[in-house]
Amino acid sequence: MKFEFARFLASWPGLGWFSSPCGLVSRQQHSAAPINLTVLRDGGNASSPFLYGIFFEEMDHSGDGGIHGQLLRNNGFQGTDPGLTGYKPLGDVEIKQDRAAPVSAAIPSSLAVSLHPRAMGYVGFANIGYDGVPVMQATYRCEFWMMGEYRGNLILRLTGSRSQHIYGEHHMTVRSRRGQFTRYEARFEARGAPDGENEWQLLFDARGVRGGVLNFGLVQLFPPTYHDRLNGLREDIASVVGELRPAFLRFPGGNNLEGLQIESRWKWNETIGPVVDRPGRHSNWDYPNTDALGLDEYLWWCEDMQMIPVLSIWDGKSYGKIVSGDDLHPFLTDIMNELEYLLGPATTHYGRLRAQNGRTTPWPLQYIEIGNEDDYTGGCDTYPDRLVQIHDTIRAQYPNLTLIANNMEEFCLPVAPLPGLMFDYHYYRTPDQLVAMFDYWDHQPRTDPVIIGEYGARNDSDPVGRNSDIVKMAAYAPLLQHFGFTMWSPTLIGFDSSPDSITPSTSYFVQRMFATNRGNTVHPVNSTAGFGPVYWGATSHDSIYQVKMANYGEESRVVNVRVPGTRAGRLEMLSGPRDVSNLPHNVNIMPAVRDINGSDEVYTVHMAAWAVAVLVVS
Ligand code: AHR
Repeated sequence: MKFEFARFLASWPGLGWFSSPCGLVSRQQHSAAPINLTVLRDGGNASSPFLYGIFFEEMDHSGDGGIHGQLLRNNGFQGTDPGLTGYKPLGDVEIKQDRAAPVSAAIPSSLAVSLHPRAMGYVGFANIGYDGVPVMQATYRCEFWMMGEYRGNLILRLTGSRSQHIYGEHHMTVRSRRGQFTRYEARFEARGAPDGENEWQLLFDARGVRGGVLNFGLVQLFPPTYHDRLNGLREDIASVVGELRPAFLRFPGGNNLEGLQIESRWKWNETIGPVVDRPGRHSNWDYPNTDALGLDEYLWWCEDMQMIPVLSIWDGKSYGKIVSGDDLHPFLTDIMNELEYLLGPATTHYGRLRAQNGRTTPWPLQYIEIGNEDDYTGGCDTYPDRLVQIHDTIRAQYPNLTLIANNMEEFCLPVAPLPGLMFDYHYYRTPDQLVAMFDYWDHQPRTDPVIIGEYGARNDSDPVGRNSDIVKMAAYAPLLQHFGFTMWSPTLIGFDSSPDSITPSTSYFVQRMFATNRGNTVHPVNSTAGFGPVYWGATSHDSIYQVKMANYGEESRVVNVRVPGTRAGRLEMLSGPRDVSNLPHNVNIMPAVRDINGSDEVYTVHMAAWAVAVLVVS
């Protein structure tokens, strides 16, 4: 039996928010006979070094209001009809979205703040972020553009929306002009707020205004960012993702790559450069995307977490229309421009643009996926044509790139196989269905390497909620959700604006246990029982062995694991009642780790009901 739990990690009932106390169960009643496993040293095969990775797309406010650091909502008035979402007036003023005062060609509106004749003292506006602004004890960085005649003091604040308690405040003197936007920037310290009901305020002295109106645009507020990057990721959320030690990042979608219409597809060239030049778009998940988390930011993210990038490119299919045949030609040019931007030397047109945007050397991009899920969403009539055109165009200039088809259905692929192609397979299933797939990949033809670009458990009761070397990559999906904006659940990690809200699901811990205990060789295992309800897989790396086990049953089981040539190590176990979940501010289910000694190379593991365990010995 050769598999590294590639599929098994997909399949835990305790997956997601709807699952499984924790801790090691060492003395339990076990009615069933013990299971004896013997890990064989020889006869195994390789395991892919990239197996455990992540998939990210903007959905559930995973990016804007999520892992991307910018905390203010509707800051560029993007999307189809943004209105005043996120804003409120402070004092004797009126606010409106002002289309006549664009900040830039890409940001065609600003916020006009008009003073009432009786306005006195400090007035202005607030932005309430994405269901509140997370206020931590930290240094915040703020940016905004301002236009209109004003000379005087300006106050930036982080304030409790109900309590009006001030957690951080910064005073600055500005001299702003009529008819011209000027950019301002400030840093200030904040004390931690007890909850998430906070807002960012900008106040100015009514006496300093000439002309009765001031305009503000592209307001931005950042807490500390991961690896201190400008326009970077939120440090707190990104660190939890980083603990998964993901081997790869597949991005930027998912459905969100495709566009509800051709025009609203994810356009790489509108997600690069200064944020003030990024127009954003109305996304497939039906909310505006700022695209502040753009192509380069994804690649910095890969660099900072040492992940290999798996870039999905648009293949001609939107949810509205599909372009194929000769009509695809302009988009082939666009794909080649995108690749020149990523891979070309700084002497090329687009390579130079990349260098201007802060990255001189080409990005280390090797894997490119052509589109997303054509098999699920009506693209199969034309996908073979589009795939061949895109494949041949890329291959002609970049023969060494690894290309990935977005499905593995015969009826959706060209009749003549394309050499070197990989295949992406997605599945969202119930826990029972996922467990039933435990040997699915054992039957995959060895000529067709796959990636599992997305898999996940679905909760039916709440809908909103031998080939390990051939299964190259796998990513649980979706990755992140803002609890205030959930369209798809469960995800691996959730959060909101309140302190300590970052909530790893039980599936997160399964991923972390497996990904932080990787092997590069899969070993055969002899056993005294068949698979189910207990499942297992064994790997090694140098002289360290990893045995991953899961008990998909009500009864605890004793498993005696013999690992030749080893003496001791540690056992990490995640367990709990079948239907208990990790919930916001209530993370009960966490793995526990303990040292374990072998007796004549045998380790006795008490697998609790619904437990997942990793035994690491040498
Ligand atoms: O992960 C959510 C969605 O599921 C992705 O956008 C899509 O590729 C899949 O159908």
